[in-house]
Amino acid sequence: MFDFAPAPNAAKPAIYAQLCEAAEAITAGEPDAVANMANVAALLGEFVADCNWAGFYRMVEGELVLGPFCGRPACIRIPVGRGVCGAAAAEGRSQLVKDVHAFPGHIACDARSRSELVVPVLRDGVVVAVIDLDSPTPARFDAEDRAGIETLAALLSDRI
Ligand code: SME
Repeated sequence: MFDFAPAPNAAKPAIYAQLCEAAEAITAGEPDAVANMANVAALLGEFVADCNWAGFYRMVEGELVLGPFCGRPACIRIPVGRGVCGAAAAEGRSQLVKDVHAFPGHIACDARSRSELVVPVLRDGVVVAVIDLDSPTPARFDAEDRAGIETLAALLSDRI
């Protein structure tokens, strides 16, 4: 049994340090990418407060395809360059979107989403997946969230 949970009232850097520690432990030695993404999606759901969607899109034959997540059913395929996820994949850079309604081409999978953070997972400089977090609160994500999820993405580089 795994019983990972953030310490009450911890600051964001501490929460992400605990999240990464849990992700490291739960994926260590496990070669199955789906199992690892599924467990990390569950951890995101536990550790990142005020999120209505958290999970993965994987790069499959040149487009993003839905992977394991916590939240409502979502768009299955996203072309590279479209929406926030597609922008992260095209640029190989994180996208921190304070107001999704102001982001050109934002794809509304869940009408509750108001802000979003998408971080690419790179392996040998190539985008293999993106981690997508959505919140119903405008400007929910900041540089500390981006840094935390970028650390997580680096950790997962050769585990998904
Ligand atoms: N909003 C994303 C689509 C994925 S859902 O949020 C789960 C986008 O614009 O790429």
